Amino acid sequence: MFTDMHNHFVYGVDDGCADHDAMLKLLFALEANRITRLVSTPHITPGLEPFPMEAYHRHFGEARELIRREGLHMEIYTGQEILYTDLTARYLREGQALTMAGSEYALIEFMPGENYARLCEAAQKVRNAGYYPVFAHIERYACLSDIHCVEELKQRYGVKMQVNCSLFVHKQGFFRKRWIRNVMKNGLIDFVSTDTHDMPGREPSMGQCYDILMKEYGEDTARALTGGNADILFR
Ligand SMILES: [Fe+2]
Repeated sequence: MFTDMHNHFVYGVDDGCADHDAMLKLLFALEANRITRLVSTPHITPGLEPFPMEAYHRHFGEARELIRREGLHMEIYTGQEILYTDLTARYLREGQALTMAGSEYALIEFMPGENYARLCEAAQKVRNAGYYPVFAHIERYACLSDIHCVEELKQRYGVKMQVNCSLFVHKQGFFRKRWIRNVMKNGLIDFVSTDTHDMPGREPSMGQCYDILMKEYGEDTARALTGGNADILFR
């Protein structure tokens, strides 16, 4: 029913699941959250740390086998959460970084504290490399607390915006609540995702998030953000 396009369930390749057992537990938790399409997005940091691509594909294959063996109702896809560095566009162009489910959409994250000009540069360079950027957990970037910047990134560069389920599920302060109200009212958010790592600590909360979205913004918005909008990744 839901699509999760940002998470760290594949074990042993980043700060997500540590081992095979943790991955199995997390897959069960994702199933319990009614997630039927799952794009795996381990961290890659172009030019900073090498990414264990061979292990990733091997562990991804193990996940596929677990899903089949346990009779889970989900399809899984490869991808990466790509840190924006000076080498990110080159990695995409050369196929050294993976897009989401093999689509033309690339999940991009930033170092904390990057400024708005750097986000614009990232959007432009990813577009020039032939891809569409999806900015990961945009609630984290102080420079996007001004929603006009979010609007401009979408209009000028076609950036898609992802936030984590925790934004809706966890209690938020006054300014954060006002930001959420504004971005939602203006239709600036494209996807909510679990960004789940390992359990316990960062469990998936897609089901709970859907219920909150449904209550606050209605069924059409809840469906779009938890799966409908993600159809663009699977064409
Ligand atoms: Fe992540």
